[in-house]
Amino acid sequence: MRGIVLAGGHGTRLHPLTLSVSKQLLPVNDKPLIYYPLSVLMLAGIRDITVISTPTDLPQLRRLLGNGAHLGLNIDYVSQSHPGGLAEAFILASDQIGDGPVALVLGDNVFHGHNFYEILQSHARDDIDGCVLFGYPVEDPHRYGVGETDDEGRLVSLEEKPANPRSNRAIVGLYFYDNDVVDIAKNLRPSPRGELEITDVNLEYVRRGKARLVDLGRGFAWLDAGTPSSLLAAGQYVQVLEERQGVRIACVEEVALRMGFIDSETCYRLGARQSSSAYGAYVRTIAQELADTPVSAR
Ligand code: DAU
Repeated sequence: MRGIVLAGGHGTRLHPLTLSVSKQLLPVNDKPLIYYPLSVLMLAGIRDITVISTPTDLPQLRRLLGNGAHLGLNIDYVSQSHPGGLAEAFILASDQIGDGPVALVLGDNVFHGHNFYEILQSHARDDIDGCVLFGYPVEDPHRYGVGETDDEGRLVSLEEKPANPRSNRAIVGLYFYDNDVVDIAKNLRPSPRGELEITDVNLEYVRRGKARLVDLGRGFAWLDAGTPSSLLAAGQYVQVLEERQGVRIACVEEVALRMGFIDSETCYRLGARQSSSAYGAYVRTIAQELADTPVSAR
Protein backbone atom coordinates (compact mmCIF):
# COMPACT_ATOMS: atom_id res chain seq x y z
CA MET A 1 0.00 0.00 0.00
CA ARG A 2 1.27 3.45 -0.89
CA GLY A 3 0.94 6.31 1.57
CA ILE A 4 0.40 9.97 0.78
CA VAL A 5 1.09 12.84 3.15
CA LEU A 6 -0.78 15.87 1.88
CA ALA A 7 1.34 18.73 3.10
CA GLY A 8 0.46 21.65 0.84
CA GLY A 9 -1.90 24.56 1.16
CA HIS A 10 -0.96 28.09 2.15
CA GLY A 11 -1.64 27.74 5.87
CA THR A 12 -3.55 31.02 5.72
CA ARG A 13 -5.18 30.46 9.10
CA LEU A 14 -1.68 30.51 10.59
CA HIS A 15 -0.43 33.73 9.01
CA PRO A 16 2.05 35.29 9.71
CA LEU A 17 3.63 32.04 11.02
CA THR A 18 3.34 30.45 7.60
CA LEU A 19 4.27 33.42 5.44
CA SER A 20 7.76 32.01 4.98
CA VAL A 21 7.61 28.51 6.52
CA SER A 22 5.50 25.52 5.58
CA LYS A 23 2.81 24.76 8.17
CA GLN A 24 3.94 21.14 8.23
CA LEU A 25 7.40 22.23 9.39
CA LEU A 26 6.17 24.23 12.35
CA PRO A 27 7.00 22.72 15.74
CA VAL A 28 4.61 20.55 17.70
CA ASN A 29 6.54 20.52 20.95
CA ASP A 30 9.91 19.05 19.97
CA LYS A 31 9.53 18.00 16.36
CA PRO A 32 8.10 19.22 13.05
CA LEU A 33 4.38 18.74 12.53
CA ILE A 34 4.90 16.43 9.53
CA TYR A 35 6.56 13.79 11.76
CA TYR A 36 3.16 13.04 13.27
CA PRO A 37 1.26 12.07 10.09
CA LEU A 38 4.41 10.46 8.67
CA SER A 39 4.71 8.21 11.70
CA VAL A 40 1.05 7.18 11.28
CA LEU A 41 1.81 5.78 7.82
CA MET A 42 4.93 4.08 9.17
CA LEU A 43 2.97 2.46 12.01
CA ALA A 44 0.56 1.17 9.38
CA GLY A 45 3.57 -0.62 7.86
CA ILE A 46 3.72 1.67 4.82
CA ARG A 47 7.18 2.36 3.44
CA ASP A 48 6.45 3.81 -0.01
CA ILE A 49 5.39 7.36 0.67
CA THR A 50 4.58 10.36 -1.51
CA VAL A 51 4.73 13.81 0.04
CA ILE A 52 2.63 16.39 -1.79
CA SER A 53 3.27 20.06 -1.18
CA THR A 54 3.62 23.44 -2.83
CA PRO A 55 6.54 24.15 -5.18
CA THR A 56 7.83 26.65 -2.58
CA ASP A 57 7.69 24.30 0.39
CA LEU A 58 8.89 21.07 -1.27
CA PRO A 59 12.61 21.91 -1.09
CA GLN A 60 12.44 22.38 2.70
CA LEU A 61 10.43 19.21 3.20
CA ARG A 62 12.92 17.36 1.03
CA ARG A 63 15.74 18.78 3.12
CA LEU A 64 14.12 17.36 6.24
CA LEU A 65 13.10 13.93 4.96
CA GLY A 66 15.31 13.28 1.93
CA ASN A 67 14.51 10.08 0.08
CA GLY A 68 13.59 8.45 3.38
CA ALA A 69 16.29 5.77 3.09
CA HIS A 70 17.73 6.67 6.52
CA LEU A 71 14.36 5.60 7.97
CA GLY A 72 14.03 2.54 5.75
CA LEU A 73 11.46 4.39 3.65
CA ASN A 74 11.13 5.27 0.02
CA ILE A 75 9.88 8.87 -0.08
CA ASP A 76 9.16 10.82 -3.23
CA TYR A 77 7.68 14.25 -3.79
CA VAL A 78 4.93 15.67 -5.94
CA SER A 79 4.18 19.33 -6.41
CA GLN A 80 0.72 20.84 -6.09
CA SER A 81 0.83 24.30 -7.59
CA HIS A 82 -2.56 25.40 -6.27
CA PRO A 83 -4.62 23.96 -3.38
CA GLY A 84 -7.21 22.26 -5.56
CA GLY A 85 -8.63 20.09 -2.80
CA LEU A 86 -7.70 17.00 -0.83
CA ALA A 87 -9.01 14.64 -3.50
CA GLU A 88 -6.59 16.11 -6.02
CA ALA A 89 -3.88 14.13 -4.19
CA PHE A 90 -5.02 10.94 -5.94
CA ILE A 91 -4.77 12.54 -9.36
CA LEU A 92 -1.39 14.15 -8.68
CA ALA A 93 0.05 10.89 -7.30
CA SER A 94 -1.68 8.52 -9.72
CA ASP A 95 1.66 7.36 -11.19
CA GLN A 96 2.94 6.48 -7.73
CA ILE A 97 -0.32 4.77 -6.73
CA GLY A 98 -0.34 2.66 -9.91
CA ASP A 99 -2.92 -0.09 -9.55
CA GLY A 100 -2.59 -0.58 -5.79
CA PRO A 101 -4.41 0.64 -2.68
CA VAL A 102 -3.54 3.91 -0.99
CA ALA A 103 -3.62 5.62 2.40
CA LEU A 104 -3.98 9.38 2.66
CA VAL A 105 -3.07 11.32 5.78
CA LEU A 106 -3.36 15.08 6.13
CA GLY A 107 -0.11 16.81 6.96
CA ASP A 108 -1.63 18.80 9.84
CA ASN A 109 -3.34 15.93 11.68
CA VAL A 110 -1.95 14.56 14.96
CA PHE A 111 -3.10 11.17 16.25
CA HIS A 112 -2.28 9.48 19.50
CA GLY A 113 -3.96 6.73 21.40
CA HIS A 114 -4.01 3.33 22.91
CA ASN A 115 -4.19 0.49 20.36
CA PHE A 116 -3.56 2.84 17.44
CA TYR A 117 -0.91 0.48 16.06
CA GLU A 118 -3.41 -2.42 16.12
CA ILE A 119 -6.12 -0.27 14.52
CA LEU A 120 -3.77 0.78 11.73
CA GLN A 121 -2.48 -2.72 11.14
CA SER A 122 -5.99 -4.11 10.81
CA HIS A 123 -7.18 -1.50 8.29
CA ALA A 124 -4.10 -0.80 6.14
CA ARG A 125 -4.67 -3.92 4.10
CA ASP A 126 -3.53 -4.50 0.54
CA ASP A 127 -6.76 -6.38 -0.15
CA ILE A 128 -8.96 -3.47 0.99
CA ASP A 129 -12.31 -3.40 -0.84
CA GLY A 130 -13.78 0.11 -0.71
CA CYS A 131 -12.65 2.64 1.86
CA VAL A 132 -12.12 2.92 5.59
CA LEU A 133 -12.81 6.24 7.32
CA PHE A 134 -12.35 7.11 10.96
CA GLY A 135 -14.82 9.02 13.11
CA TYR A 136 -14.08 11.05 16.20
CA PRO A 137 -16.51 12.88 18.51
CA VAL A 138 -15.91 16.64 18.58
CA GLU A 139 -17.49 19.74 20.11
CA ASP A 140 -17.41 21.68 16.84
CA PRO A 141 -18.40 19.28 14.02
CA HIS A 142 -19.27 22.14 11.64
CA ARG A 143 -15.49 22.59 11.08
CA TYR A 144 -15.09 19.11 9.59
CA GLY A 145 -16.48 16.41 7.36
CA VAL A 146 -19.29 14.88 9.41
CA GLY A 147 -20.59 11.32 9.22
CA GLU A 148 -23.96 9.94 10.25
CA THR A 149 -24.58 6.27 10.94
CA ASP A 150 -27.79 4.24 11.18
CA ASP A 151 -28.84 2.10 14.14
CA GLU A 152 -26.59 -0.72 12.94
CA GLY A 153 -23.58 1.57 12.74
CA ARG A 154 -23.59 1.75 8.92
CA LEU A 155 -22.43 5.03 7.43
CA VAL A 156 -25.46 6.59 5.74
CA SER A 157 -24.49 10.21 5.14
CA LEU A 158 -21.47 12.46 4.92
CA GLU A 159 -21.40 16.24 4.78
CA GLU A 160 -18.51 18.66 4.47
CA LYS A 161 -18.59 21.42 7.07
CA PRO A 162 -22.38 21.38 7.50
CA ALA A 163 -24.05 24.43 9.07
CA ASN A 164 -26.34 22.06 10.99
CA PRO A 165 -24.36 18.86 11.64
CA ARG A 166 -26.43 15.67 11.92
CA SER A 167 -23.97 14.21 14.41
CA ASN A 168 -20.91 15.21 16.39
CA ARG A 169 -18.77 12.63 14.57
CA ALA A 170 -15.98 14.32 12.58
CA ILE A 171 -14.24 12.37 9.84
CA VAL A 172 -10.55 12.59 10.63
CA GLY A 173 -7.77 13.20 8.12
CA LEU A 174 -6.73 9.59 7.64
CA TYR A 175 -8.28 7.50 4.88
CA PHE A 176 -7.64 4.07 3.37
CA TYR A 177 -8.84 3.30 -0.17
CA ASP A 178 -8.78 0.64 -2.82
CA ASN A 179 -7.51 1.63 -6.25
CA ASP A 180 -10.94 2.86 -7.43
CA VAL A 181 -10.18 6.12 -5.63
CA VAL A 182 -8.05 7.33 -8.53
CA ASP A 183 -10.89 7.08 -11.05
CA ILE A 184 -13.40 8.45 -8.57
CA ALA A 185 -11.18 11.49 -8.00
CA LYS A 186 -10.65 12.00 -11.73
CA ASN A 187 -14.42 12.13 -12.25
CA LEU A 188 -15.16 14.66 -9.53
CA ARG A 189 -16.35 18.20 -10.17
CA PRO A 190 -15.02 21.03 -8.00
CA SER A 191 -17.30 22.02 -5.12
CA PRO A 192 -18.76 25.54 -4.79
CA ARG A 193 -15.53 26.53 -2.96
CA GLY A 194 -13.58 25.36 -6.04
CA GLU A 195 -11.99 22.22 -4.53
CA LEU A 196 -12.07 18.51 -5.30
CA GLU A 197 -13.56 17.40 -1.98
CA ILE A 198 -12.51 14.27 -0.14
CA THR A 199 -16.06 14.12 1.17
CA ASP A 200 -17.33 13.71 -2.42
CA VAL A 201 -14.91 10.80 -2.92
CA ASN A 202 -16.15 9.22 0.29
CA LEU A 203 -19.79 9.81 -0.67
CA GLU A 204 -19.21 7.81 -3.85
CA TYR A 205 -17.98 4.91 -1.71
CA VAL A 206 -21.07 5.31 0.53
CA ARG A 207 -23.26 5.14 -2.61
CA ARG A 208 -21.48 1.93 -3.65
CA GLY A 209 -22.03 0.49 -0.17
CA LYS A 210 -18.27 0.22 0.27
CA ALA A 211 -17.48 2.79 2.96
CA ARG A 212 -16.65 1.64 6.46
CA LEU A 213 -16.50 3.93 9.43
CA VAL A 214 -14.32 3.04 12.38
CA ASP A 215 -14.90 5.04 15.54
CA LEU A 216 -11.88 6.30 17.41
CA GLY A 217 -13.44 6.56 20.82
CA ARG A 218 -12.83 8.62 23.94
CA GLY A 219 -9.34 7.88 25.23
CA PHE A 220 -7.98 8.67 21.81
CA ALA A 221 -6.52 12.02 20.82
CA TRP A 222 -7.05 13.49 17.39
CA LEU A 223 -5.89 17.05 16.93
CA ASP A 224 -5.56 19.18 13.85
CA ALA A 225 -2.93 21.85 14.01
CA GLY A 226 -4.31 24.26 11.45
CA THR A 227 -4.87 27.33 13.64
CA PRO A 228 -2.63 29.06 16.22
CA SER A 229 -4.67 27.72 19.13
CA SER A 230 -4.93 24.15 17.80
CA LEU A 231 -1.20 24.15 16.97
CA LEU A 232 -0.43 25.25 20.51
CA ALA A 233 -2.91 22.75 21.99
CA ALA A 234 -1.27 19.92 20.01
CA GLY A 235 2.15 20.99 21.30
CA GLN A 236 0.91 21.17 24.87
CA TYR A 237 -0.74 17.76 24.64
CA VAL A 238 2.47 16.20 23.33
CA GLN A 239 4.61 18.01 25.89
CA VAL A 240 2.51 16.84 28.84
CA LEU A 241 2.58 13.20 27.75
CA GLU A 242 6.23 13.17 26.75
CA GLU A 243 7.40 14.78 29.99
CA ARG A 244 5.12 12.71 32.19
CA GLN A 245 5.88 9.35 30.60
CA GLY A 246 9.43 9.88 29.37
CA VAL A 247 8.42 8.67 25.91
CA ARG A 248 8.24 10.54 22.63
CA ILE A 249 5.24 10.65 20.35
CA ALA A 250 5.95 10.40 16.61
CA CYS A 251 9.71 10.02 16.97
CA VAL A 252 10.19 8.75 13.42
CA GLU A 253 13.57 7.14 14.17
CA GLU A 254 12.03 5.12 17.02
CA VAL A 255 9.04 4.13 14.89
CA ALA A 256 11.39 2.99 12.09
CA LEU A 257 13.35 0.91 14.59
CA ARG A 258 10.29 -0.63 16.25
CA MET A 259 8.78 -1.45 12.85
CA GLY A 260 12.00 -3.18 11.80
CA PHE A 261 12.62 -0.68 8.96
CA ILE A 262 16.10 0.10 10.36
CA ASP A 263 18.46 -1.63 12.77
CA SER A 264 19.58 -0.28 16.11
CA GLU A 265 23.02 0.84 14.84
CA THR A 266 21.40 2.97 12.17
CA CYS A 267 18.98 4.36 14.74
CA TYR A 268 21.85 5.21 17.07
CA ARG A 269 23.67 7.04 14.27
CA LEU A 270 20.54 9.06 13.54
CA GLY A 271 20.44 10.06 17.19
CA ALA A 272 24.13 10.94 17.17
CA ARG A 273 23.54 13.32 14.25
CA GLN A 274 21.21 15.32 16.51
CA SER A 275 23.65 15.11 19.37
CA SER A 276 22.95 18.36 21.19
CA SER A 277 19.21 17.95 21.56
CA ALA A 278 17.20 15.98 24.08
CA TYR A 279 15.43 14.45 21.08
CA GLY A 280 18.73 13.09 19.76
CA ALA A 281 19.62 11.71 23.19
CA TYR A 282 16.25 9.93 23.31
CA VAL A 283 16.85 8.36 19.89
CA ARG A 284 20.24 7.05 21.05
CA THR A 285 18.79 5.68 24.28
CA ILE A 286 16.00 3.87 22.45
CA ALA A 287 18.51 2.42 19.99
CA GLN A 288 20.55 1.02 22.88
CA GLU A 289 17.52 -0.25 24.80
CA LEU A 290 16.09 -2.13 21.83
CA ALA A 291 19.41 -3.38 20.44
CA ASP A 292 18.84 -6.96 21.55
CA THR A 293 15.06 -7.04 21.26
CA PRO A 294 13.65 -8.93 18.27
CA VAL A 295 11.40 -6.85 16.01
CA SER A 296 8.32 -8.86 17.03
CA ALA A 297 8.82 -7.83 20.66
CA ARG A 298 9.59 -4.14 20.09
O1 DAU B 1 -8.83 17.53 9.43
C1 DAU B 1 -9.88 16.73 8.96
C2 DAU B 1 -10.70 17.46 7.94
O2 DAU B 1 -9.82 17.79 6.85
C3 DAU B 1 -11.88 16.62 7.43
O3 DAU B 1 -12.82 16.41 8.47
C4 DAU B 1 -12.58 17.31 6.27
O4 DAU B 1 -13.58 16.48 5.74
C5 DAU B 1 -11.56 17.62 5.17
O5 DAU B 1 -12.15 18.35 4.11
C6 DAU B 1 -10.42 18.45 5.75
O6 DAU B 1 -10.96 19.72 6.17
P1 DAU B 1 -10.04 21.01 6.35
O7 DAU B 1 -10.85 22.22 6.09
O8 DAU B 1 -9.38 20.93 7.67
O9 DAU B 1 -8.96 20.85 5.21
P2 DAU B 1 -7.85 21.90 4.83
O10 DAU B 1 -8.33 22.69 3.67
O11 DAU B 1 -7.40 22.64 6.04
O12 DAU B 1 -6.69 20.94 4.37
C7 DAU B 1 -6.13 19.97 5.23
C8 DAU B 1 -4.64 19.89 4.98
O13 DAU B 1 -4.36 19.53 3.64
C9 DAU B 1 -3.93 21.20 5.23
O14 DAU B 1 -2.76 20.89 6.00
C10 DAU B 1 -3.53 21.73 3.89
C11 DAU B 1 -3.51 20.51 3.04
N1 DAU B 1 -4.01 20.76 1.68
C12 DAU B 1 -5.26 21.23 1.55
C13 DAU B 1 -5.77 21.43 0.30
C14 DAU B 1 -7.20 21.93 0.11
C15 DAU B 1 -3.22 20.51 0.61
O15 DAU B 1 -2.06 20.07 0.77
N2 DAU B 1 -3.72 20.72 -0.63
C16 DAU B 1 -4.98 21.16 -0.84
O16 DAU B 1 -5.38 21.32 -2.01
